[in-house]
Amino acid sequence: MPQAVRLKKQGGPELLVLEEVEVPPPAPGEVTLRHTAIGLNFIDVYQRNGHYALQLPSGIGQEAAGVVTAVGPGVTTVKVGDRVAYAGVPLGAYSEARNYPAEKLVPVPEGVSDEAAAASLLKGLTAWYLVRRTFEVERGQTVLVHAAAGGVGLILCQWLRHLEATIIGTVGSEAKAEAAREAGCTHPLVIDASNRRDLPAKVKELTGGAKVPVVYDSIGKDTFDVSLECLAPFGLMVLFGASSGPVPPFDLQRLAAGGSLYVTRPTLSTYTAKREDLLAGARELFDLIARRVLTIHVNQRYPLREAARAHKDLEARKTTGSTVLLP
Ligand SMILES: NC(=O)c1ccc[n+]([C@@H]2O[C@H](COP(=O)([O-])OP(=O)(O)OC[C@H]3O[C@@H](n4cnc5c(N)ncnc54)[C@H](OP(=O)(O)O)[C@@H]3O)[C@@H](O)[C@H]2O)c1
Repeated sequence: MPQAVRLKKQGGPELLVLEEVEVPPPAPGEVTLRHTAIGLNFIDVYQRNGHYALQLPSGIGQEAAGVVTAVGPGVTTVKVGDRVAYAGVPLGAYSEARNYPAEKLVPVPEGVSDEAAAASLLKGLTAWYLVRRTFEVERGQTVLVHAAAGGVGLILCQWLRHLEATIIGTVGSEAKAEAAREAGCTHPLVIDASNRRDLPAKVKELTGGAKVPVVYDSIGKDTFDVSLECLAPFGLMVLFGASSGPVPPFDLQRLAAGGSLYVTRPTLSTYTAKREDLLAGARELFDLIARRVLTIHVNQRYPLREAARAHKDLEARKTTGSTVLLP
């Protein structure tokens, strides 16, 4: 029988243990997949530790690539042997094999390895919607990106470089600053609790006083306040994560004080809810990977049975770029 991580309660990384599971024949609209690589994402941490509620027991993980080994009744979009990937619920990517809805699969083209697909689909589709949908970045604009050397961060920087934007990026160490710079970050800034308050002045200086039209902030609690202060009038605050914890309720009057600012809290699932949008984003992403415009930095690999160690490293900010679990 295949093995999978099943969460029976939420809590620490030690709960991520493999067990044997039965994979029944695929139901109508489903396929059975044999995973070849599984993507690790920060959302897996929120779902494991209870920051996001889950119906238990539950699978965990929502990004993987693999091969179709069986198709259920009514499935016409894929066939046995196809290489595919997915990014989204139902949870359960931390597994050797599973069933998954065919309509949420995307084909993986030649020129993109299984590992690159598993390491990039969720993070890369996120970068896609952030720069192409939430705020369409134009050539010559200067934008602020937090966690610029992270999984989403390195893809976001490369995509912004492709769009010919100037990137101010925050990172947690000098080594991460170098990784961000190689990915196209024009001004990587090492930020911690001691100098975070200086960020708006630094952004003002780097933009000749103008500040930025958009901030992509996935850190949340620790950065939200200073991020708002980095925005030019009419600027857009894109809060798309909470790696340091959730942002507490805030006074809307601050949007007036900053100059008619906007705030959005987007999710990938909304931007890919329609199949045509999912396919359009995946095509754009995979095309940029195949053309080597985007390099997917798989900087950490763990056997699936060591998922707990992978979570510990991600939470301890020890990782850069993407991380995969190998079944
Ligand atoms: N809304 C969406 O659609 C969507 C989709 C995908 C991902 N996300 C979000 O995007 C973010 C990035 O995801 P990812 O999987 O690529 O993770 P990641 O960026 O590789 O890892 C998180 C990074 O956040 C930074 N960080 C700052 N303060 C932290 C703290 N207190 N604890 C942990 N990390 C801290 C660290 O970088 P430094 O050390 O350089 O500061 C760390 O490496 C996450 O918040 C995730 O939830 C949102």
